[in-house]
Amino acid sequence: MNELLKKFEDYLTNNLPKIDTFHPHFQNAMSEMLKAGGKRFRPMLLLSVVKSKKPLLIENSLKVALAVEFLHTYSLIHDDLPAMDNASLRRGFPTLHTKYDEVTAILVGDALNSESFNLIASSSFHNDVKIELIKLLAHNGGLNGMIIGQAIDCHFEKQKLELEKLKFLHTNKTAKLIASSLKMGAVIANYSEKIQEELYSFGLDLGLLFQIQDDIIDELESSEIAGKTTQNDSSKNSFVNLLGLEGAKNSADILAKKCLDILDSFDENLRNSLEELLVTYINRHKKFNS
Ligand code: IPE
Ligand code: IPE
Ligand code: MG
Ligand code: MG
Ligand code: MG
Repeated sequence: MNELLKKFEDYLTNNLPKIDTFHPHFQNAMSEMLKAGGKRFRPMLLLSVVKSKKPLLIENSLKVALAVEFLHTYSLIHDDLPAMDNASLRRGFPTLHTKYDEVTAILVGDALNSESFNLIASSSFHNDVKIELIKLLAHNGGLNGMIIGQAIDCHFEKQKLELEKLKFLHTNKTAKLIASSLKMGAVIANYSEKIQEELYSFGLDLGLLFQIQDDIIDELESSEIAGKTTQNDSSKNSFVNLLGLEGAKNSADILAKKCLDILDSFDENLRNSLEELLVTYINRHKKFNS
């Protein structure tokens, strides 16, 4: 395992949420999906940006990276609920509402959401930096980001959206949290505003690519291999449903090329640090080419 990822995994293992309670299963349920794994894509984006300019700040950034993973994990737990995607498998394990009950899954998600902001607020950065980080996560993971994306995703099931609206949906649902993970790293590392914006804009392309690839995975991969319920997007405005499988792959190819070009334009440290993480992701849809 890559050294940075190992650092993050160790930090997560040692900082799972602790609750003072006599509830028989809530403590376990809180930790279960965090321990189950996942790619840790968003925290690794944040940490890779910090590493490129201020490697000495990595240790203090782990708490903020964990906050991003908490928020993302909450979004997955809620995404799987019967009222949303109704999925039974996540990160290789039964979803919380299937193993326990809906109440537990809803409340674990709620708790991870609020805890993510608590983690940032109690991190060791200057107050101005912390406020900026909280604003970024709240904006992109909240109302004008992931939430409105998820709301549109669920509301427009069985109703085909036009391409611009499809892009709006997926940019909000997925790309903004990915873009803000990069920007949060840039805020911690004190990159110039210009570079912060360049990273955010790159993240929007990267995030859209990530969701197109996810839609291709839903179509082509077994639940066993993906570790989550797949073939579950039949009524969704997924890229595969709207553009066809070949169309989706083609869009992914175009965005992958764009992402690699942008990566190439970054200064050496930033490029090297991100490249290490991103080469596997940018081309991950290519394994489905016959
Ligand atoms: C899945 O995210 C949901 C999307 C936004 C596509 P990931 O594919 O990053 O899920 P984990 O964290 O690896 O489980
Ligand atoms: C979910 O998108 C995006 C989130 C904000 C959680 P999907 O519904 O496609 O994610 P998966 O395929 O269930 O992981
Ligand atoms: Mg969904
Ligand atoms: Mg889903
Ligand atoms: Mg999906």
